[in-house]
Amino acid sequence: MKRILIVGANGAIGSAVAKDLAQDFEIIRAGRTNADIILDVTDRASIDKALKGVAKFDGLITCYGKAAFGEFADINLADEGNGLGYKFSGQVNMVQAVLPLLNVGASITLTSGILNDQPIAGGVFAAAANGALNSFTYALALELNGRARVNIVSPSLIADSEDAMGRTFPGYEITPMHDVVNAYRHCVMGQLNGKVLRLYRPI
Ligand SMILES: NC(=O)c1ccc[n+]([C@@H]2O[C@H](COP(=O)([O-])OP(=O)(O)OC[C@H]3O[C@@H](n4cnc5c(N)ncnc54)[C@H](OP(=O)(O)O)[C@@H]3O)[C@@H](O)[C@H]2O)c1
Repeated sequence: MKRILIVGANGAIGSAVAKDLAQDFEIIRAGRTNADIILDVTDRASIDKALKGVAKFDGLITCYGKAAFGEFADINLADEGNGLGYKFSGQVNMVQAVLPLLNVGASITLTSGILNDQPIAGGVFAAAANGALNSFTYALALELNGRARVNIVSPSLIADSEDAMGRTFPGYEITPMHDVVNAYRHCVMGQLNGKVLRLYRPI
């Protein structure tokens, strides 16, 4: 059975995606807690240590991403994780670390989000990180030249997160979890390469 490593498999998106793909793949869960592989994506050394001895696998999915929110003028760029980290750097760390562990024809599926296309006040860095991740995906697909496919899923606010975050996204289109799960399934099992799967209509 082919094996997929999911970072953030306990999260809102990751747990739904893991449950769905477990019908067709062996799922290896990675995260800081309660996972098969304990790692911190913000720390490349912790990733390398955790992946030592792990047998090759057929796909990486990252359902992780933390960005600084708040008034732009007040965000201290010197603080850890601000700017484009950790949402951008965490996923990029993970991709770089797993490249030697991917079987031929493997897939890499990252996660961005709506905020670079339809920003909210206080979300400057989340918007920038999403835009950077989307561009990273286009460019990396070219460079990998078929050695592995790389795509990125960009949801709007997910239905399951509406109660917690709905007020921050007033009037935003809500992405059903079913569409989210299908998008990752499409990236893993289909032929897509170098695509941003935007799960919302443009305005
Ligand atoms: N939820 C939404 O409505 C929505 C909409 C659009 C885009 N997105 C994007 O989708 C991604 C996932 O969102 P989510 O709502 O599913 O997040 P979530 O529920 O907060 O889950 C995040 C997952 O990542 C793991 N994680 C967090 N920090 C980590 C680290 N440093 N190293 C390794 N693992 C770490 C967490 O597990 P541990 O704490 O155990 O490590 C958890 O399993 C984010 O990039 C988010 O911006 C979400």
